[in-house]
Amino acid sequence: MPLIATVEATPNIAVVKYWGKRDDKLILPQEGSQSFTLDSLKTRTTVMFSSEFKEDEFWLNGKKVDLNDKEVAERMQQLDVIRKKAGIALKARIVSINGFPTAAGFASSASGLAALACAASKAAGLNLDSKELSILARLGSGSACRSVVGGFVEWHKGVKADGSDSFAETLFPPEHWPELRLLSAILAEGKKKVSSRAGMKQTVATSVLYQARLASLPKLMQEMREAVKNKDFAKFAELTMRESNDLHSVMLDTWPPITYLNDLSKQVIYAVHELNAGNEVKAAYTFDAGPNAHIYTLEKYVPEIKKMLEGIEGVQKMIVSKVGHGPKYLTDESEHLIDPATGEVRKHYYDENANKIVVG
Ligand code: PMV
Repeated sequence: MPLIATVEATPNIAVVKYWGKRDDKLILPQEGSQSFTLDSLKTRTTVMFSSEFKEDEFWLNGKKVDLNDKEVAERMQQLDVIRKKAGIALKARIVSINGFPTAAGFASSASGLAALACAASKAAGLNLDSKELSILARLGSGSACRSVVGGFVEWHKGVKADGSDSFAETLFPPEHWPELRLLSAILAEGKKKVSSRAGMKQTVATSVLYQARLASLPKLMQEMREAVKNKDFAKFAELTMRESNDLHSVMLDTWPPITYLNDLSKQVIYAVHELNAGNEVKAAYTFDAGPNAHIYTLEKYVPEIKKMLEGIEGVQKMIVSKVGHGPKYLTDESEHLIDPATGEVRKHYYDENANKIVVG
């Protein structure tokens, strides 16, 4: 039996965001965070271990990635942890592709590193539970630990130095709030100027306001749990928007300052508040380490939000997602991105019109 596995994982968009580590190597956060795992924007990853492979190899979106690059090597540290757990020394071939336009401006690190944790551990013959998978994914990218499970997810910050209690779990499954939608508005393309890794480190070191943020997060997370539990959209929306604004204030308070929002992001913020000024609260924006707007809303308001965004010149693309179930293991042999018989990378690409990953 070849040691091979293929997994599809999706991103998550946080409503209480992770920003700041207490341990850089193990990626342990200063505080907990909460997010919804999406049902779309899949990353498919195949991992194969074989005695035929002379070295580890990683192909991303059709291009070979340099595993000697320091940041890449840090992100792939879970691979050695997996080999150690499985008691194998075999080299790995990893092939990964995003099932969405690369220019969409979506950070694919959460879906990519969650898919890697699930596929690599499965290929190595391990049958890990979601807590163990979350810990592995965390070693690649903090936010990835929340993408190994579906629904409304909380990453517990943990207190142990070895990180064994710092993992994410589902608090409410996707079925809990089926009307919830995320409308992502792509406002800019290209790589961000300051990576989240570098940015959050700088914030922890220099921001005065950051201490106030940390002190406020446990209460905020409790209120967020209640709002989601009660499906209280108005409360949820206020908490989400205030939290995003708080995060971006702390970024601006960092020295030298970090600004991820651009003028279009600000236009979206004002437009959402204008829309919410009526009888009902209909939308909640949240921004990560970039200018793109993520707007949580309810199914019935999606057309109205789309119209609102169409009125803003410079909005390049809109993507609507539901809440998803987390990673999916693809067991059909034809879906592997590597030929299990030969170990060769199969021809594969993302068909944007059909919105699907084509193999072979
Ligand atoms: O996991 P990283 O290093 O990509 O950091 C993610 C940081 C934010 O996206 C800004 C917040 C979050 O919790 O997802």
